[in-house]
Amino acid sequence: MTDELEIVPKADHRVMGVDHAAFPTFDPAGTVRFYRDVLRFPVVHSICAAGWGPDKHPDFIHFFFDIGNDDRIAFFYYFGLKPYGDQTAPGDSWARLDHDTPQFFTNSRHLAIHVVDEEDLLEYRKRLDDSEWPVEMQVMHETIESIYTHDPNGYMIEITRALRPVTPQEDLDAAITIDALIDIAEGEDPSMDKLLERKAQLIVERAEAWERAQQHELAPEPVLVP
Ligand SMILES: [Fe+2]
Repeated sequence: MTDELEIVPKADHRVMGVDHAAFPTFDPAGTVRFYRDVLRFPVVHSICAAGWGPDKHPDFIHFFFDIGNDDRIAFFYYFGLKPYGDQTAPGDSWARLDHDTPQFFTNSRHLAIHVVDEEDLLEYRKRLDDSEWPVEMQVMHETIESIYTHDPNGYMIEITRALRPVTPQEDLDAAITIDALIDIAEGEDPSMDKLLERKAQLIVERAEAWERAQQHELAPEPVLVP
């Protein structure tokens, strides 16, 4: 026996399963109906982003459903983007791409694998950077930090760590955003502006009910008189 603390080296295999699998969608309302309303997977996170970059990136929304075990399935919806390629060809939305398809769209389908901390993320970064498939991007998002590359098949792969937990307020915000999205997605020319406008209306419509619920929560327990 020794009093000295034994330093246990970290395991070589440090990944912790799926963080999220992500796909593009041209049918956000159908996607929400299928995953949220039919399968009843809760909406747990959404990110609205205005376009950027040299690709003339369209505005988009990226939304996540909880599939259990802290894993998520996620979708990208790009406002104003029409489907690429021959939509009568066999395969899914992604398999029908043509040569003009911008990179942001092809990258939107990917698998993200979870690691617990920065040390493990950087370990995988080192393994990739020492290989034929170096890291192409390292990005700090709102709640996660990720590295990305493409595997030998051209599939995009992400390794990610959580920066902080998603808060209940963010879950609530995602739920309202997705309600607003399905309200506008099947209307004429869906856009980020229309989404935000509808979201603001829903917040006003629901504010009174939230206030009532909060007051109910804060109210003292009724005292039972014998
Ligand atoms: Fe991702």
